[in-house]
Amino acid sequence: MKKLFYNISKIHGTNERGTFKKGREMQKLSTIENGWILVENGTVKQLGANIAQQELAQMISESNESVDLRGMEVLPGFVDSHTHIVFAAPRHEEFALRIKGATYEEIAEKGGGILNSARKLQSMSEDDLYEQAAQRVALMMKHGTTTIEIKSGYGLTVESELKMLRVIKRLKKNFPCTIKATFLGAHAFPAEFKTNQQGYIDLIINEMLPVVIEEGLADHIDVFCDKGFFNVEQTHNILKLAAEKGLPAKIHANELGLTGGVQAAVANKAWSADHLEHCEGDEIQALISGFEQEYGGTMPVALPGTSYFLGIPYAPVKNFMAHGLPVALATDFNPGSSPICSLQTIWAFACTQMKMMPEEAFHAVTCNAARSMRLEHEVGSLAVGMKADFIATKTRDAVKAVPYFLGQNHADMVFVGGEQI
Ligand code: NIG
Ligand code: FE
Repeated sequence: MKKLFYNISKIHGTNERGTFKKGREMQKLSTIENGWILVENGTVKQLGANIAQQELAQMISESNESVDLRGMEVLPGFVDSHTHIVFAAPRHEEFALRIKGATYEEIAEKGGGILNSARKLQSMSEDDLYEQAAQRVALMMKHGTTTIEIKSGYGLTVESELKMLRVIKRLKKNFPCTIKATFLGAHAFPAEFKTNQQGYIDLIINEMLPVVIEEGLADHIDVFCDKGFFNVEQTHNILKLAAEKGLPAKIHANELGLTGGVQAAVANKAWSADHLEHCEGDEIQALISGFEQEYGGTMPVALPGTSYFLGIPYAPVKNFMAHGLPVALATDFNPGSSPICSLQTIWAFACTQMKMMPEEAFHAVTCNAARSMRLEHEVGSLAVGMKADFIATKTRDAVKAVPYFLGQNHADMVFVGGEQI
């Protein structure tokens, strides 16, 4: 089944397969002008530029289907490597409290925050949760996101954590986009374990993890390693065991303070360390040392939607890049700290608030985000052999214009495996 896309004014992100970009390389954009893409069985078979009229006519006649993109520009489908989109309800009441001055941590200490979401999720059926999450996946796809990581972590009981992961499994089966699941049982200590933290860790290790592994419910493990949540030692214990069972780590680190989370991520060969709002020299050195090691490094993933929504500092990504590090960006889409579905919005925040150049942030939501899930050979760039996931936009000079004209959806058409969604 061959499908030809032609009459494309620019194809951006035409990196070599498997590319991710570090430091200054993040500014360098690969673009093909007057391009075409030939898709076979869902992957890019060939792509190129400036084809002669006659040759084009021949390619069209040799394809089963051809699509005239009428001068639109094309970008790789966005990769959202950090979301919590299986949730039961928004947290409007906390939004109001924060507008009046309460902090995220104060709300969490009083049993709100993640525990609030957990109470609501525990009493919701798997089917209802699925319906809501499916709507969110569809919404994200409409905004150009074609690869999504989804975390558990609002269950916090054996039954409800597994319920969340089974919802994610159903999403994987029913949507054409690439979906990866992350087990985040270690998101918060449930109230009944407040004075017995080890009891909850035992539950994660002895009751949850074996079922997660046995049923193949997760692709990664996550721990919220931060002030008031899981400490470094607890994080090590969980990640070490998970690694022995073959589950790589992607962890929440340094959102609320200089807590050692980044160092814990690197020590455990995590694929990514996410948040990083509080990072100084030691954290940067730890990240650098990760990329010198054989496991391939821990991708720093910034979540500017959270900084915007909670009014906390932004991750110092310019400093990361100045040290030659790569950076990825994600939405952190969740009801507590970032109710933001679109990576286009995150791209804009990255430019205006974190001072990333549009090209840098573009790579951070495509190929570098793919790398944070070790998917850079499948998604995040447009190259031969990659999945044919892409966005067609009428917006001119899209890489500069998407973060500039924020608040609109620039994804006029979205294709997953070459099929329009
Ligand atoms: O990534 N930081 C921890 N977890 C989520 C927030 C979860 C919530 O507040 O519901 C985050 O920001
Ligand atoms: Fe998160």
